[in-house]
Amino acid sequence: MKRERLDKVLANMGIGTRKEVKQLVKQGLIEVDGVTATDPGMHVIPEQQEILVDGEPLHYKRYVYFMLNKPPGVISATEDPRHETVVDLLPPEWAAKVHPVGRLDIDTEGLLLLTNDGQLSHSLLSPKKKVDKEYYARIAGRVTPEHADAFAKGVTLDDGYVTMPARLEILSSGEESEIKVTIMEGKFHQVKRMFAAFGLQVVYLKRLRMGTLLLDETLEPGEYRELTDEELASLRKLT
Ligand code: URA
Repeated sequence: MKRERLDKVLANMGIGTRKEVKQLVKQGLIEVDGVTATDPGMHVIPEQQEILVDGEPLHYKRYVYFMLNKPPGVISATEDPRHETVVDLLPPEWAAKVHPVGRLDIDTEGLLLLTNDGQLSHSLLSPKKKVDKEYYARIAGRVTPEHADAFAKGVTLDDGYVTMPARLEILSSGEESEIKVTIMEGKFHQVKRMFAAFGLQVVYLKRLRMGTLLLDETLEPGEYRELTDEELASLRKLT
């Protein structure tokens, strides 16, 4: 476990800016293992030592993992000059520290994982790991078993790229069809382009699952929660 400066740990936990945190130390409001801290630059191992801020224990977390039910109209990025971004929906103390694991289009809804754990994020996105992603979609037009067969073989996209096999489940077929699709990659606009290859338009798209992680359907669009220990452990097993 890493030794870090006390003021950095406190600032990272959103207690205040480095300057404010230094002030708290000066005022004698920070205790480490029962002793009042005097040096904001003292080194601590936050996972092991008991740190009190004005008498309240600091529950230190190096990494955070949020599941967001992404609403439409919000960009999967950490900053954007024009639109609200997914990190704007999180608690302000974490917004500047986390990044979305992959992207959903502005109009796509559903499961998005946000974390500051770069290693987990990198492995989940690595094409080698083939972490599958499941989507629910409504399609303008009739989706048929022939489309499902074609998806199972891999679809040639507009740029000539042939996708990995995908599983297409038809829930209803008509003037507008409802489907579930599972893909193992994350090419730009992949689901929309796979349907476009057959002249079909995706009119609604929602991600339901990423690997073992299922969207918590009790989250309203725009709501988030932290992953449970079990959810995190299962995700780690995939990587
Ligand atoms: N495929 C798409 O076309 N859009 C998304 O947002 C995700 C997958």
